[in-house]
Amino acid sequence: MKLSNMKNRIAVGTVQFGLDYGIANKYGQVSVDEIEDIFECAKKNSIDTLDTAIGYGDSESRLGAVGVTQWNVITKLPALPDSIIDVKSWVRDAIKKSMLRLQVDQLSGVLLHRPSDLLDKHGDRLYSALEELKCDGLIEKIGASVYAPEELGPLYSRYNLDIIQAPFNILDRRLKESGWLDRLSNQGTEIHVRSVFLQGLLLMSSQDRAGQFRRWEQLWARWDDWLNEVELTPLQVCLGYVLSELQINKVIVGVDNVEHFREILNATKDIIVKIPDNLSCNDLDLINPARWNL
Ligand SMILES: NC(=O)c1ccc[n+]([C@@H]2O[C@H](COP(=O)([O-])OP(=O)(O)OC[C@H]3O[C@@H](n4cnc5c(N)ncnc54)[C@H](OP(=O)(O)O)[C@@H]3O)[C@@H](O)[C@H]2O)c1
Repeated sequence: MKLSNMKNRIAVGTVQFGLDYGIANKYGQVSVDEIEDIFECAKKNSIDTLDTAIGYGDSESRLGAVGVTQWNVITKLPALPDSIIDVKSWVRDAIKKSMLRLQVDQLSGVLLHRPSDLLDKHGDRLYSALEELKCDGLIEKIGASVYAPEELGPLYSRYNLDIIQAPFNILDRRLKESGWLDRLSNQGTEIHVRSVFLQGLLLMSSQDRAGQFRRWEQLWARWDDWLNEVELTPLQVCLGYVLSELQINKVIVGVDNVEHFREILNATKDIIVKIPDNLSCNDLDLINPARWNL
């Protein structure tokens, strides 16, 4: 695959634009000037997709203020409130407000931030509310953001989705190993992956990894040794691994500043990296950041 096509599969994650977020983030919420620099750099590299969420603090309004009409914007709908009565109006209202904040008249995608809502009593109404917005031309694609591939079976037994976003990285290969990468691709679902740097943990030197991660000392030793052996940077390997899975349509990267973004673009080469099997890890305490003691 050509280098240009590789870069075009990168999408910009924006949680850091709206919240002070991430274990590796030393700079706090990304400033508006920095967002503008990131966008300029993205534009020069034909990167055109943004991943945001209604739940990411003031990310949507800041994106709107900077100007995102030239971007394909994907946002996420939060969990339905427990007390909800009129699902259709609630969904329409939430999406319209999101579009107002973003200052766009169309969304490239809307993902459910809590897809299990589709399996509850309001599931069919939720799905048809989104389908209606799609028919009206306000949104192009609908989908779900999942934390684990086990969520996909129940969802796909009831609904078809245009996009699935899931975590995927050199340690967390569940999407591929579960067979869902093939299944989703075969049925024409767009596959977006996130957490390719596991919040930046995979890019840290051994001395910078917090004490809580020493439990996996042997795994880190194998990782550090192998990196030395192949003479690649962790950034090159993390990106090379996910980009070499050609069924993945978008690789969402989180950046705290434009330097990170430039480093990512420089490390995005048309190389296929064969990662040793013994670097894969299914321990949820490590691969699911929601379980870290932060
Ligand atoms: N050169 C460098 O040092 C360099 C370069 C690039 C990036 N980085 C670091 O890498 C970080 C980005 O890493 P990444 O791209 O792999 O993204 P990530 O932060 O691992 O993942 C992004 C998404 O995963 C979900 N997630 C992550 N942690 C979670 C938690 N504790 N609880 C629940 N959900 C969680 C969140 O989705 P939801 O909340 O939407 O569910 C979040 O939007 C940057 O912030 C930066 O610090 C460093």
